[in-house]
Order: sequence, then structure tokens, then C-alpha cells
Amino acid sequence: MSPCFGGEGEHKDAAAVGFAPGRAEELMSTPRRLFIAGNWKMNLDRAGSQRLASAVADQSYAYTKIDVAVCPAFPYLADVHEALTGRRVALGAQNMHYEASGAYTGEVSPTMLADVGCKYVILGHSERRHVFSETDEMVNRKVRAALQFGLAPILCVGELLAEREAGKTNEIVERQLRASLNGVSFEHLRGVTIAYEPVWAIGTGKVATPAQAEEVHAHLRKLLTTMYGADIAQGVRIQYGGSVKADNAGGLLELPNVDGALVGGASLKAEEFLGILHAAARLAKSQ
Ligand code: 13P
Repeated sequence: MSPCFGGEGEHKDAAAVGFAPGRAEELMSTPRRLFIAGNWKMNLDRAGSQRLASAVADQSYAYTKIDVAVCPAFPYLADVHEALTGRRVALGAQNMHYEASGAYTGEVSPTMLADVGCKYVILGHSERRHVFSETDEMVNRKVRAALQFGLAPILCVGELLAEREAGKTNEIVERQLRASLNGVSFEHLRGVTIAYEPVWAIGTGKVATPAQAEEVHAHLRKLLTTMYGADIAQGVRIQYGGSVKADNAGGLLELPNVDGALVGGASLKAEEFLGILHAAARLAKSQ
């Protein structure tokens, strides 16, 4: 099966649309498109996954100016890929191992994900970091492996509540970003989406205020500028994640450095997720 790709169009200043290495100059002049991804986590059964994918895909005609992806649980990737075939919604996975194959019982490789039609893979999600003890070094190996095998990582960073309260937010996301992107070339960076997900906002209903989100997103872009130069940094999409819903999406997505959303709970209800997509599509049209 071939990967599902989102469409093309325009938004904001620059964009990571596709990521064939060696075409960084294209990145510099392409607008950043809003990118909304649904992280279904360990939810839904097979029929529910197919139904939700179809409900989102059925509305995909309205999303010509934004990129959309859904990330179901591993067992249903192929079913969801089938439901999305020919639509403007891409397929993503929620995690992977960094080796292509081998004696790693219970793991899933990048080549397997590409084989079932994934375009994206979420890496370094806070639940992986904090529940399954993934280190920055592991996340970095995964990011590099994903890029090597043609997958586009959605790289998550974010601070715990205690870290925010201790005034360490910038320091924490800087450590995570630098370590996770260690060895990633500027040509490959175009394939990477960053997701800022404050851990205290995930699944809690406590969304970051627009000011809090913009401050960290701007900091991340400044770091990317230091690491890769301004032209490249302008092209990287930075999603916000953490209690995004239809009624708060617009206020986040309109921020200068917020280029999309990584949505958990609200992506499990078609109507709610579609509401977020409509908010994004409206903003994209008004650019
Ligand atoms: P919620 O939208 O449920 O807060 O989850 C966010 C998230 O973890 C997306 O990856």
C-alpha cells in the first residue's frame, strides 16, 4: 500500500509540504499550512475506527487548504487506511521502534508503518516519555529512523506542571527539542512537525491560554532558528496539543506560531473533530 498524502495549498509564511531531501529552497518559499492530527490513543475498536475515519474522510472536500491526519491504534491502521483511500486525510501511527526489523518482541518498525500506508508517526508523546520511560535519546533514534524510512515524525515536547511552576518550561522544551533532533539535517527537518503538548493540559480540560501557547511556540521557533537558520525554521510546523476542542481551536490556531493541533479526546468524536477542522479551514481561507 502506498502512503496517504494530504493536499497542497497555502497558509502563513512557510511550510513543510512533503519532504524530499535536497529541496530545502522550496521549503523557504512555501507557506505553512495548518495541520490538524487526531491522536486516537488506545481507544476505539475496529468498527469504531473505520466509522470515525469514514466520517472524517467524508467531509474531506472542505479541507483543501489544511492538512489532516488521523492516528489510530496499530491493529486498525490498515482498516483506516482503506477508509481513507483517495481522500484528503492522511494516516499516522502513534509510536514505532527505531529498527527496521529484528528480534524486538511486541514492537512495530518504521518500514511496517510505511507498508500499511502511514505518512506520519507521533514520536516522544508525553505518555511514551512519562508512562513508558522513553528517553530523549530513544526519541532521537526514532525520529532519525522515521525520516530514514520516509515517515514524517510528529515530534512531541512539553513540560510537566511542576516544571512550569518552577519556571523551567523553556529549559525543558529546549532540552527535548535539541536532543530529539540531534543529527537531523536541515534537509530532513522539512519532514518534521513539532507538537508542543504541555503535559498538564493533556486530557485534563485545562488548555494553555493563547499567550502561554504562543510564548512556547515562539521559543521553539527561535531555537529552531539557532539550530537550522531562520529560513528553515520558518518552514517548520509547530502544532499545539492539550485539550483542544472545537470551541477553543480558533483562538489557538490564529496565533502566529501555532500551525495546527494535535488532538486527543476531541478527535474521538466526529462532530467535535470536524468542528476543529472547520475552524482551521476558516482561518486558512482568511489568510
Ligand atoms: P487531549 O486533547 O485529550 O488533551 O490529548 C492531547 C494529546 O495528548 C494529543 O496527542
